[in-house]
Amino acid sequence: MTIVIAVDGTAASGKGTLAKRLARHFNFAHLDSGSLYRLVALAVLEAKGDPAKENDAVAAAHAIDLTRAGDPAIRTDLVGRMASLVSAHPTVRAALLRFQRDFAARPVGESRGAVIDGRDIGTVICPDATAKVFVDARPETRAHRRWLELQNLGIAREEHHILKELVARDHADRNRTVSPMKPAADALLLDTSDLDIDAAFAAALALVQPKVEAALKALPRG
Ligand code: CDP
Repeated sequence: MTIVIAVDGTAASGKGTLAKRLARHFNFAHLDSGSLYRLVALAVLEAKGDPAKENDAVAAAHAIDLTRAGDPAIRTDLVGRMASLVSAHPTVRAALLRFQRDFAARPVGESRGAVIDGRDIGTVICPDATAKVFVDARPETRAHRRWLELQNLGIAREEHHILKELVARDHADRNRTVSPMKPAADALLLDTSDLDIDAAFAAALALVQPKVEAALKALPRG
């Protein structure tokens, strides 16, 4: 039995940063599930396949190379868009499900829990998660944050293009038939539009801490 914090939310809402900080705070392992879909998308592109084709995408999902999870190449907005395409295929999601559930059940190292961020962690991957947060922010705010993030990677993009892409990707993620992005019925909602990173972290911590502390107390020692 482990503790799981599910952090779902819209594109560039800050869920990844929050998930990392929550993991550090509780000394839990962290999994960015979006990076799995991004890795699949990058592999399809590199193989000159078509991310919209289920066969191409599922072949890449079965051969996923997790050693590239830190590769900045998966962070481009092209790969983000293609990740949204591959993630809509049910067989791709099925291929990645086991890995995510295993991570939740047996987080790496000494961790007594896991923080996983994504779109369907609280609804599909870990419906029994200890605490669930759904993070959102105004589209313009998210576009500006993504613009800054890309700048730091040396990628220059027009902010209004980023905004258009984020809105289109959210629309696709919300409206796909399999595992659509939506807050779980028992998710706590967090709007980070007017919060800087420290304030957003404090707000997220205040939401999850009571549940996590109670679950830690209930865990058998050792
Ligand atoms: O960082 P950003 O919020 O832009 O995206 P991400 O979390 O890296 O996810 C990229 C894409 O993967 C999303 O637009 C979703 O289509 C897909 N994804 C998903 O379907 N399910 C997840 N659990 C995580 C990501």
